[in-house]
Amino acid sequence: MKNKKYLCDYPHIIYGGDYNPEQWKATPEIWDEDMRLFRLAGCNEMTVGVFSWADIEPREGIYDFSVTDTIMDKVYEAGGRVILATPSGARPRWLAEKYPEVLRVREDGQRNFFGIRHNHCQSSPVYREKTAQIDRLLAGRYKDHPALLAWHISNEYGGDCRCPLCIAEFRKFVRSRFGGDIEKLNYEWWTSFWSHQYSSFDEIEPPSPVGEFRTHGLQLEWQRFVTYITTDFMKNEIAAVRSFSDKPVTTNLMGFYQGLDYRELAKPLDFVSFDNYPTWHSPVSNDKTGAYIGMTHDMIRGLKKQSFLLMESTPAETNWQSINKLKKPGMNALSGIQAIAHGSDSVQYFQWRKSRGSSEKFHGAVIGHDGSADTRVFREVAALGGQLAKLDELVGTCTASEVAMIYDWDNSWAVTDAQTLQRTNKKFHETLAKWYSPFWKRGINVDVISRHDDFSGYKLIIAPMMYIAEEDTEERIEKFVAAGGSFVTTYFSMLTDEEDLCRLGGFPAGKLRRVFGVWNEETDALYPEEKNTVSDSAGTYNAYDICAVLRPEGAQTLAQYTSDYYAGTPAATVNDYGKGHAYYVAFRDGGDYADRLAEQIIRELSLRRVLGDTSLPEGCTAHSRTDGDTEYVFAGNYLGNTAEIKLGETYTDMLTGLQTDRLELGAYGYAVLKKTK
Ligand code: GLA
Ligand code: ZN
Repeated sequence: MKNKKYLCDYPHIIYGGDYNPEQWKATPEIWDEDMRLFRLAGCNEMTVGVFSWADIEPREGIYDFSVTDTIMDKVYEAGGRVILATPSGARPRWLAEKYPEVLRVREDGQRNFFGIRHNHCQSSPVYREKTAQIDRLLAGRYKDHPALLAWHISNEYGGDCRCPLCIAEFRKFVRSRFGGDIEKLNYEWWTSFWSHQYSSFDEIEPPSPVGEFRTHGLQLEWQRFVTYITTDFMKNEIAAVRSFSDKPVTTNLMGFYQGLDYRELAKPLDFVSFDNYPTWHSPVSNDKTGAYIGMTHDMIRGLKKQSFLLMESTPAETNWQSINKLKKPGMNALSGIQAIAHGSDSVQYFQWRKSRGSSEKFHGAVIGHDGSADTRVFREVAALGGQLAKLDELVGTCTASEVAMIYDWDNSWAVTDAQTLQRTNKKFHETLAKWYSPFWKRGINVDVISRHDDFSGYKLIIAPMMYIAEEDTEERIEKFVAAGGSFVTTYFSMLTDEEDLCRLGGFPAGKLRRVFGVWNEETDALYPEEKNTVSDSAGTYNAYDICAVLRPEGAQTLAQYTSDYYAGTPAATVNDYGKGHAYYVAFRDGGDYADRLAEQIIRELSLRRVLGDTSLPEGCTAHSRTDGDTEYVFAGNYLGNTAEIKLGETYTDMLTGLQTDRLELGAYGYAVLKKTK
């Protein structure tokens, strides 16, 4: 049965990106040249209007839609579609001059001046009304325009505001989370420590470096609030658009950005989109970067458990990283294909034409300051355009995975904020990547899910540093393992509830101690220059940073420490529980132990590798999407050498149309294959 869901009413891979025509208003002939080049590049989409507010509403209540009107028509005539943005990411100067309340207040209580972008209060009724008003005008005007594909709500929502309006909203939010019971809050935030009890919700202040920043419950609640108020602000924009238009709405996310819980932000959206700026060709090898980005795409796909759009990427260099390196020949295409392999229905660039002035004038773009198509970047963009046109049939397909990794923002915030072990650098995301990599290398699809998601469809769940495990999570892990699932966790897991209050009775918390068959009695922190060693039947491994000391309570030892006072005690265990297996890895390894354990579990559970038992050359990976009947397989080589992959069976190569049972992938080479059941 074919199982596809189009994000937009459009049966092609979306190929294009951000276009800022108002920057070129003085030279409209450039717009026509842009349209010529747009066709030549094989593009079919432009994202318009992201920063157009001051052009559309130069003075309060005075509107001029002429640029947007012209560009919508021109893109359509050039055979393209438009994703139209609401302009709330950056506002006109008059708005801040007339209504200073729209400007953000910082952690120290000072109000910002006008400037840059994202510099607005999310609670301000004036800002909400002004954005809703321009959103309604845009939606009403363009709702039936044949070019309109979807709405891009604002741009990269982020940051917070601590003005009196936001503080009042925060107090309301906290009051409702604790059911108006201040004593409950005092208990859960453990405020008797340092005599910090609150006597009323009106005393709650946001955390501040010049005030309270050590009450971890407060810190967590503030981050949840920032997500709430930003989502609420976004919903106000969505409602304005929806009052006229039924086209889908999205907003562009920034991967593992820590300022917002994207799972909450994703809820009111029809689909999510993602701005992806990897540091290819850095001192970190490209396959390591590739695995990290693969994990990021999987997380983005997991937000709504459907395909997504790659809303931005650079065709060449960025200008805001500390070193802004070019993408070497081939890397732009591989990076775009990687997004599609993990569930994107688009490849989009920031930006189409390089700005002439201001802060992004040296950021990579499809058209550079030379204005021509005779560049390496343009040729590579156009070549990819030709290939993407052959991939229509996989639009809207999704990913089937037997393995899931757990990632939650509140967990990440709490891990980062915890005052223990390596206090300022817990390496949480690095640790996730370490556990993700063995699957990436072997060509195994992985979903990234929340601890609150349904576990039942997975054979294996990996939850590194799962610090928060409230009772509900505890129950669901227990059920998953009892029913036959395999669950892997590590040190620094299952310690607190969702308010960051430690669970009592030993870790892992509650009945998880029985599920894992161990008691994590104490946990040692190592200095950067220090290491411990661990051994098992296959070899020895270094232990860095964190060594938990376990007392087995029924679990079988898989590996043990060989030095320090805990030499001879278990460093990794497995417990048979019900019909399943619960693994506890007590130490931080350099990646080799994670790889060894993953290999063993993959074999034991016969986890499905996208290219069967083919062993992939170093630096290569494979992922797949499916519509239920046809499987689409993406193989990529992230290193600079040539790699050969024997496929074991015959596939159709979708880019060449030929049948093949082997691939030869050059530097940053890739293939898109298909096989029908
Ligand atoms: C972000 C923004 C864009 C642009 C790019 C540059 O993704 O959304 O407006 O600033 O970064 O990389
Ligand atoms: Zn505010």
